Amino acid sequence: AETLGDSAAQSGRYFGTAIEPGYFGEQPYVDTLNQEFNSVVAENNMKWETTEPAQGQFDFSGGDQVVGHAESQGMQVRGHTLVWHSQLAPWVQQLTGDALNQAMIDHINGVAGHYQGQIASWDVVNEAFDEDGTRRDDSHFQQQLGDGYIEEAFRTADAADPNAQLCYNDYNTDGINAKSNGVYDMVADFKARGVPIDCVGFQTHLSTDTDLSTYQQNLQRFADLGVDVHVTELDVGGSGTAQADAYRTVTEACLAVERCKGITVWGITDAYSWRAEETPLLFDGNYQKKEAYGAVLEALNSA
Ligand code: G3I
Repeated sequence: AETLGDSAAQSGRYFGTAIEPGYFGEQPYVDTLNQEFNSVVAENNMKWETTEPAQGQFDFSGGDQVVGHAESQGMQVRGHTLVWHSQLAPWVQQLTGDALNQAMIDHINGVAGHYQGQIASWDVVNEAFDEDGTRRDDSHFQQQLGDGYIEEAFRTADAADPNAQLCYNDYNTDGINAKSNGVYDMVADFKARGVPIDCVGFQTHLSTDTDLSTYQQNLQRFADLGVDVHVTELDVGGSGTAQADAYRTVTEACLAVERCKGITVWGITDAYSWRAEETPLLFDGNYQKKEAYGAVLEALNSA
């Protein structure tokens, strides 16, 4: 097939991108989005600071634009993210104990409830682990509520949107290492105890020198626990063939793991990437296809 989305669809997968509705007025942005991708995620618009800037006052304007565009184009939507220690509304940081726990529940009910039936998979909890595989100790949720907040978040999200797939999402968990071992143990425990978790997201923010030798094996071991896996925020700092090779390796790994449901790149054009100076995406600042684009398209079509 000729596009990323159509090529991924040949094996029942999606190929998505993070988007910012603020760029919808730019024609090449929208044209590239509509032409190439069949799934989207809000790069920032569904985060807590945006969706509930004051307690109990929800703002879905940006997120609704993302979902509205996706529905008009027949694209899937990933939800990002319900509970994260970062990009948190300042009022949440003032709460402690039971009040914080209740605010978390209310937030999940408010946001996942608003989008009920429209989200294919939610990043219910984002980035809760430290590099050594223990729970991240600079998280206000962790400090106030302890390990149990993650389980509580998944149970709440399951009730708020029973049809969405519920994911745990993190970075630097892309290979087999201390951090991915920590997440693995949590997922194994959740599956054993019947906590509703359906999927794990691997952000996959890479550089050309990232060791990808255990990437596929890592996706597979999570899949073997009985969850789907998603490549959720792919980008690769670098250029040329080295960058293309990393993209190819990740794409081939996803295709080789039956439960890998799809790949999302973290933006369309290098110009608007959070790592713009590292030119990490598939289209350059003028929306021209890069070598990495060709590598991904070829990998998707040789599966
Ligand atoms: O919205 C304001 C705007 O009003 C203001 O004029 C402007 C001035 O700097 O800032 C805007 O907010 C920025 C926001 O992106 C929207 O552009 C924030 O400063 C900026 O910090 C924020 O960065 C985002 C970052 O998450 C925040 O942690 C990036 O765009 C976004 O790509 C990035 O995404 C995260 C994922 O959610 C989780 N995984 C890691 C990934 C990369 O950090």
